[in-house]
Amino acid sequence: MDLPKAIYELEFNHGSAYGEEELRALTEVLRANAPSTGPRVKKFEEEFAAYTGSTYALAVSSATAGLQLALIAAGAGPGDEVITTPISWISTANAAAACGAKVVFADVERRTLNLDPASVAAKITERTKVILPVHLYGQCADMQGLNEIARARGITVVEDCAHTAGATQHGRKAGALGDIGVFSFHQQKNMVTLGEGGMVTTSRKDLYERVLSYRSLCCRTYDPKGKYLPIDQNAQPMGMRYWWLDFDGIGYNFRMTDIQAAVGLEQLKKLEGFNRRRREIAEIYTRRLKGIRGLRLPETLAGNTHVFHIYGVFVEPDFPLSKEEFMWKLYMDKRIKVWSHYMPIHLSSVYRAMGHGEGECPVAEELFHQYVSLPIHPRLTDEAIDYLTASVRELA
Ligand SMILES: Cc1ncc(COP(=O)(O)O)c(C=O)c1O
Repeated sequence: MDLPKAIYELEFNHGSAYGEEELRALTEVLRANAPSTGPRVKKFEEEFAAYTGSTYALAVSSATAGLQLALIAAGAGPGDEVITTPISWISTANAAAACGAKVVFADVERRTLNLDPASVAAKITERTKVILPVHLYGQCADMQGLNEIARARGITVVEDCAHTAGATQHGRKAGALGDIGVFSFHQQKNMVTLGEGGMVTTSRKDLYERVLSYRSLCCRTYDPKGKYLPIDQNAQPMGMRYWWLDFDGIGYNFRMTDIQAAVGLEQLKKLEGFNRRRREIAEIYTRRLKGIRGLRLPETLAGNTHVFHIYGVFVEPDFPLSKEEFMWKLYMDKRIKVWSHYMPIHLSSVYRAMGHGEGECPVAEELFHQYVSLPIHPRLTDEAIDYLTASVRELA
């Protein structure tokens, strides 16, 4: 790939939208000397679990960290295979590689670019430990199809919900559709916690306990009866022999701080509003861009509520410009920076070096020459929306 670097700069696409509420919350935590994992993290976890309809939630430093914890919790390791999609940010596949598992890429379906259950089924072996779909762009993958494949074989389903805070499928929230879900609160996401952050959700106690442990260095302590408990070093309840610590694995420090959680609590209250605005903008784009020859617009499948983290269009062969020309002209002539989410992971240098390459996922490889993300976030002004839609129409 030899594209000018400028195209990959993301400027027009920031999700972060903060107000006075976050400012007040920040000040309060600063006055409490801004601890690491403390009472606000606990509250944020409780509220996020309730919001998604999960029994447990654990706040983490990023979705990259959360995905790694989820795969450790699922027991993925050397000798195991993890089936995932090539169309994602590299964190998704890396989480499996970091555990020492083999990454197996299954192909995507054309309408949504989400993992295709038929392709997943074809790649199952007796070593498959985890199926790891991404709910791409804000719309859930076919979880019924994927869960059916997994349940029949005792495979764990990890949902990458980085794009889907608030999205639903058949009335149930993302993060509660598989065995364990991972959210991102990075600055571009639908809700944000000061630039970085994430959350792991599950209703399975065994997975919760392993994530809790590995999030904080596999640290253990004892209750007064000498019972061994996993615990956050920074959040020990009263009545513990706090000076008795032990470690029973090679864990990480993937904790979220209280100041991030305080902001997260305010963002969670605003999430539905943010998502409503994203859907509104998506409707305007669809209305204004409909009918342009060769420009395929995003589709929301029956049963899904889309939260439009990304508004992805397809520049098909009968469009007057190629995808590259379209992106370049928008940038050079119109100063609009669009992006393409994402370069298929199996074509990246690091995965090629592991033996991956062309031919592995033909649909993803074909559509990579077509998909383009138009800027969408709740702070987009009507003027920006007018300018963008007029510019696209002009180039078409
Ligand atoms: C689909 C997907 N998964 C995982 C991640 C990683 O999230 P984070 O930046 O919070 O580590 C991202 C980030 O963009 C993403 O888009």
